[in-house]
Amino acid sequence: MPLSTEMDAEAGETVAVLCRDLVRIYTAEGIEVQALQGLDLRVMPGEFVAVIGESGSGKSTLLTTLAGLDRATAGTAVVGGYDLLRMTRAQRVRYQREVVGFVWQRASRNLLPYLTAAGNIAMVLSLAGRKDTVRIAELLDLLGVGECADRRPAEMSGGQRQRVAIAVALANRPDVLLVDEPTGELDEASTEQVLDALRAVNRESGVTTVIVTHDLQVAQHARRTVHIQDGRIATETMRRTETRPDGTTFRAAEEFAVVDRLGRMVIPTAARDGLRLSDRVRLTTQSDRLEIRPGGREWEESS
Ligand SMILES: Nc1ncnc2c1ncn2[C@@H]1O[C@H](COP(=O)(O)OP(=O)(O)OP(=O)(O)O)[C@@H](O)[C@H]1O
Ligand SMILES: [Mg+2]
Repeated sequence: MPLSTEMDAEAGETVAVLCRDLVRIYTAEGIEVQALQGLDLRVMPGEFVAVIGESGSGKSTLLTTLAGLDRATAGTAVVGGYDLLRMTRAQRVRYQREVVGFVWQRASRNLLPYLTAAGNIAMVLSLAGRKDTVRIAELLDLLGVGECADRRPAEMSGGQRQRVAIAVALANRPDVLLVDEPTGELDEASTEQVLDALRAVNRESGVTTVIVTHDLQVAQHARRTVHIQDGRIATETMRRTETRPDGTTFRAAEEFAVVDRLGRMVIPTAARDGLRLSDRVRLTTQSDRLEIRPGGREWEESS
């Protein structure tokens, strides 16, 4: 699919997921909701990224857009060379079949209840014109749910169901795996199993993985966590393992604000409320920093 020259330049850096100025406006009963408000995001091939944010901040909207299930109102989203806002219906079918795997937030949407785990995977393969019993067994083993092959969803635990759902999403060897709140309905032990499985899949198959979560514990497992606030990426936290002089290791983390191409950034809610930053603020540029302080109200009161 032809991309614009500007996009080509970025795609040339082999970005797996590229969102720029992404806007999604829902209209329900005459009221507009801006679920995505100019969101920028790049994910590199093979990356494992966690997306966090409050309820209603736009996480599922971002994921369903990237999955090709919902079309954004404006902006750019390119995944695997597909321009998601402009693709035709036929391209959309091919995109969903070959490029992305998606796991819904509501666990009950992921599996057909009358088919076994193996049957659910076989169904996805057959829709793509494939039949591969070895692949089915491999996938279930990779997710640690080999024992569920002949069970229907009702005969599995919540965690097993989610791992089977991930296996189904991976059936067609997608480049990008999108998982919306895979552990929202699970206890701690099952959460750990699902996450271990996701990390193993990412490590072993190299599939680019974007996972949405409410759970900060979950997010801490990712090397990079993006924090959505009001439909935009407000901050990103990077994590890495560092070694102390005595040879022991620890996880180091640093949170960064994100500045877009136009120089805009989102002030995190806590800082905005805590320092009462609104309307006008004072910006002071130092040689190595920029300070943002409340201020400006005194100008309104004087004549
Ligand atoms: N189909 C829809 N029609 C109208 N508004 C919608 C629709 N889907 C989402 N919204 C609205 O868009 C905003 C973002 O919703 P979204 O589902 O993306 O949030 P979320 O971050 O996934 O929340 P949660 O953590 O609760 O799953 C919310 O205000 C929501 O009410
Ligand atoms: Mg959601």
